[in-house]
Amino acid sequence: MMKIGIVGLGFVGLSLTSVLSSKGYDVVGIDVDKEKCEKIIKGITPFYEPDLEKILKIGLKKKLKISDNFSLINNCDIIFVTVGTPQNLNGSIDLSIIKKAVSTIGINLEKNKNDPIIFIKSTVIPGTMKKEILPILEKKSKKKAGKDFGLISNPEFLQESSAIKDTKFPHVIVLGGYQTKFMKKAKKFFEKLHPNIPIIITNHQTAEMIKYANNSFLATKISFINQLSTICQKIPGANVDDIAKTIGLDPRIGKYFLNAGPGYGGSCLPKDMKALINFANISGIKPTLLNAVEEVNTKQLEQIISITKQRLGDLTSKRITILGTAFKPNTDDIRDSIAIKLINKYLKRKAKITIHDPRAIKNTKDIFGEKISYAKSIKNALSKSHCVIIMTQWKQYEKLNNKEFNYMTKKLVIDCRRMLLGKELDVDYFAIGLGKEK
Ligand code: UGA
Repeated sequence: MMKIGIVGLGFVGLSLTSVLSSKGYDVVGIDVDKEKCEKIIKGITPFYEPDLEKILKIGLKKKLKISDNFSLINNCDIIFVTVGTPQNLNGSIDLSIIKKAVSTIGINLEKNKNDPIIFIKSTVIPGTMKKEILPILEKKSKKKAGKDFGLISNPEFLQESSAIKDTKFPHVIVLGGYQTKFMKKAKKFFEKLHPNIPIIITNHQTAEMIKYANNSFLATKISFINQLSTICQKIPGANVDDIAKTIGLDPRIGKYFLNAGPGYGGSCLPKDMKALINFANISGIKPTLLNAVEEVNTKQLEQIISITKQRLGDLTSKRITILGTAFKPNTDDIRDSIAIKLINKYLKRKAKITIHDPRAIKNTKDIFGEKISYAKSIKNALSKSHCVIIMTQWKQYEKLNNKEFNYMTKKLVIDCRRMLLGKELDVDYFAIGLGKEK
């Protein structure tokens, strides 16, 4: 039976490990973090992702192995690389983790007699496969790509909070690389795994660029609607959601990613935008549109601060409640979350911050410690507050009403997700994307 190794057990790697093993594939999931591996072996996921734990446990009952020992890839036929590619301080991509991972894979590849295919799922800037990854693998393994092993770019499009569904049912499979026997095998593998899903076969550079195209287009859609939402705020009675809903019905536009909000965050869109901008700049192209997309994103955040300053005056010692620090609902992930950025900005202005989040309190505490307060209930979060800001669209915030707002000292409500629209509220209400009736 074919053996699959998955290197890097983050959102992408652990979802893939769990889904493939739950389907009965012989899988070994590998990560350098021993503690993380020990947790996963017990069926505990290191982060919250709906359904992940359930699927992982099914896999563990079948053939799934988890280990920090890279030599286990020696007898694999397929190796997926799913390690992170974070950003450097100047926004460029940091390839140190992936280089180290493929270097170790290369050393072990020397002993692998199965002529395996290595799929790189990690997001890498165009040219990385040919210029960095392929040479490392060939040098360390003393083998030839295309002859002794296959190397294929296989970008991932899953979204956190629907990672399992997206892993089971991707909308496309991209295979980038040379047209060798390995590419044919890869195509067969994916046709069997995901029948009827389009498979795009292309070269490495194009596959690498497809990933950036995808994420930068999504960011562009968000900044577009955010820009419109700011204009709507100047039109009494205008509602950005009705506009989004309507233009979304035009198949050329499409309905997704048109929810105006405080800006895009998370571990992918901001980082990939910066990496693409950096790559364009060093390639001698001025990325005018991409820069504007980022600028609109930053302005969304500044806008929230301006409103609080306008309504509350000097922010020193003002009590501000942030509802939701996770970068989106149904996750505990706060990496590059707009709410975290916002808190930092308020702390600089000496405001007193209380946060509430159904899942992300622990991760938020790891960043801010004693510098802010953490409320277990929404009621406690609102108590004696001067201003509440709904940042993340957690379902429970839809229920907020006058009774709860009565616990506040001053009732300034900033609704970044228009969750309370249409309610009779006895508060000073401001919603992103809504033109106040005069
Ligand atoms: C994103 C992409 O959507 C995935 O396709 C991709 O695989 C992934 O990055 C990645 O490169 O790994 P993810 O980071 O999970 O996925 O988050 P998104 O669902 O894209 O949300 C990103 C941010 O945009 C969030 O802060 C969210 O609140 C915001 N957003 C999203 C909006 O403000 N409005 C929208 O309409 C959609």
